[in-house]
Amino acid sequence: MAELTCNNLTLGYEGSVLVKDLSFTVERGDYLCIVGENGTGKSTLMRTILMLQKPVAGSVVYGEGLKPNEIGYLPQQTLVQRDFPDSVREVVLSGCQTKAGLRPFYNRAEKQLARDNMARLGVEDLSRRCYRELSGGQQQRVLLARALCATERMLLLDEPVSGLDPKVTAEMYQLIRRLNREGISIIMISHDIHAAVRYASHVLHIGSEVFFGPVADYCRSPLGRRYLEEEETTC
Ligand SMILES: Nc1ncnc2c1ncn2[C@@H]1O[C@H](COP(=O)(O)OP(=O)(O)OP(=O)(O)O)[C@@H](O)[C@H]1O
Ligand SMILES: [Mg+2]
Repeated sequence: MAELTCNNLTLGYEGSVLVKDLSFTVERGDYLCIVGENGTGKSTLMRTILMLQKPVAGSVVYGEGLKPNEIGYLPQQTLVQRDFPDSVREVVLSGCQTKAGLRPFYNRAEKQLARDNMARLGVEDLSRRCYRELSGGQQQRVLLARALCATERMLLLDEPVSGLDPKVTAEMYQLIRRLNREGISIIMISHDIHAAVRYASHVLHIGSEVFFGPVADYCRSPLGRRYLEEEETTC
């Protein structure tokens, strides 16, 4: 059974349709990159997978034992979110919210999980620092540690390298690849098509044309070739 199956999804808001009849699957251990122009519905799709909003039509089926609120999520950053007054430790611990349920405090195991994930991402020394005083790269690592507290199976990352410099971007991609090799399925939205075809196993391109399939097939497809050429930079 696939880890995630989207069947004939139609997404939209108040009568306007963004994406129609979208179907794709994610197998355990896949690394799916979602690409496409601004406003085509990528973040909407991610929120639909997380059941934070309903599709206009179609369904999302989860792998055995995978609950939508146990999927790790790194949302697209807004300036407001960058301004959290909390400490790094509190931000990471908040990733255990589903585990804590209605309990008004985090238990010992959850606190240990937060410490383990801070160590896993190399941010344990920042634990007492205020989140909003960190650099963009440090903040993204902290949010990734937070997302990991929710899951050992699937991470949804909405533009995790946006705003990061090339060196920190490369480090972030290495980190994500390492987590994928440890067995976590990755679904990542990115505008960096070259990194997408380098690291991902599959590509979902949404827009006026749609593609879903393995990276090699995307690179050979007319849509993939056009998109890769458009993004080619020259000095
Ligand atoms: N809550 C909402 N209510 C109404 N319209 C919305 C809502 N959220 C998003 N939209 C609209 O839906 C469209 C798709 O938004 P979405 O954020 O999914 O795009 P995206 O592909 O993630 O874009 P980007 O690459 O810029 O992040 C946009 O036109 C947006 O204005
Ligand atoms: Mg978006």
